[in-house]
Amino acid sequence: MSKDSKEESTGIESDLVNLARLAASESLEDTRLFLARLIRKYRQSHPDLASRLDQSLKSTQTRSSGNSVLRRGAPVSDSSEAALPVDGDSRLALIRVFDDRAGLASPILPNSVHDAIGAIIRERQESQRLAARGISPTRSAILVGPPGVGKTLSARWIASSLGKSLWVLDLTAVMSSLLGKTGNNLRAALDHAKKHAAVLLLDEIDAIAKRRSDESDIGELKRLVTVMLQEVDQWPDSGLLLAATNHPELVDPALWRRFDMVVKFDAPDAASIGVAIKRFLGDDQEVFKSWIDVLAAGLQGQSLSDVERSINALRRGHALQTASIEKLISSAIDQRQEDLSKAERLNLAIELAKAGQHTHMQISQMTGVARDTIRKHAGPSPRKGRGLK
Ligand SMILES: Nc1ncnc2c1ncn2[C@@H]1O[C@H](COP(=O)(O)OP(=O)(O)OP(=O)(O)O)[C@@H](O)[C@H]1O
Ligand SMILES: [Mg+2]
Repeated sequence: MSKDSKEESTGIESDLVNLARLAASESLEDTRLFLARLIRKYRQSHPDLASRLDQSLKSTQTRSSGNSVLRRGAPVSDSSEAALPVDGDSRLALIRVFDDRAGLASPILPNSVHDAIGAIIRERQESQRLAARGISPTRSAILVGPPGVGKTLSARWIASSLGKSLWVLDLTAVMSSLLGKTGNNLRAALDHAKKHAAVLLLDEIDAIAKRRSDESDIGELKRLVTVMLQEVDQWPDSGLLLAATNHPELVDPALWRRFDMVVKFDAPDAASIGVAIKRFLGDDQEVFKSWIDVLAAGLQGQSLSDVERSINALRRGHALQTASIEKLISSAIDQRQEDLSKAERLNLAIELAKAGQHTHMQISQMTGVARDTIRKHAGPSPRKGRGLK
């Protein structure tokens, strides 16, 4: 045997002995981690061996019994995230991670919400000053509001401002396991978050309450709410517990009371919609400059998530030149048109006519209001093409 191959086989022998020792100790997690290390080590020099080891590693993951609730999730870069819990039966991840540590654009929010979110962040950043006076920072907050207004986004923003990933508890996964285990699942996930001083979001927290209507589940759900009550009460200063819901009426009042702060999100106002349109237009802002007011008027009442969807469709249409700008604008606000009452549509048409950027013909196309009606309310049409590109 040459010196090289002798050294090599000694390496393999000692790895084998170590692997056997770990397997004998019945520490499945350590065995798996060691196997993963061996696969990396031998991938270049012994590809066949590495791929066979890889198969054994995979089979340990799928065959594992469902006795324990906590299992390792998929490996990720952050060491604290390397052991994210998954449900023992379904193997669904109990916690999802949003990693915006590289930075995230701030959400567009009315002042009151912006200030509340800002306070949560500042208190964390200056927690030592608070601690010196024996004061705890806000440990828990519940974000309430209609869909698509930036609740989840604000939670991501808070975490990213604090240089952390946002952990989101997947309540569907928590509740997907066998009856009787959901309480354990919930506790395991929450304990894990507490241990790592995470920013944890309980998204759609009403999911727990909603299921209460299902009689067969009632005992189980009561237990879940009890777990939740205890956990919110005992949440440590080092962690931050956020919850979000668009059904505040479904959240147990006892649970509701336990959050340190309630942040109310409303549907966006006109100013926010204007800012959002400009942001979502991105590099195309210049192209659509003379249409921004029209879009803002036409998209009133939409959530920012819907505004984003409309603007993205508009930009795609423009990039691929699927139709004229007028047509694209009109279909961007078309969706909303169906929700507008006749009076609201007339108002929109009058506003647009007064702004003088578009001909009555164009306004009529966009709003569905007859040209005569527009003229009756707003006077004659501006000179053709005025203000148009
Ligand atoms: N206030 C906002 N500022 C900027 N973008 C927003 C805002 N609200 C929504 N958006 C856009 O819409 C997307 C969806 O928003 P988000 O998931 O935060 O809504 P949500 O309030 O959590 O809704 P749901 O109640 O349905 O969960 C965001 O990722 C973002 O692109
Ligand atoms: Mg959300």
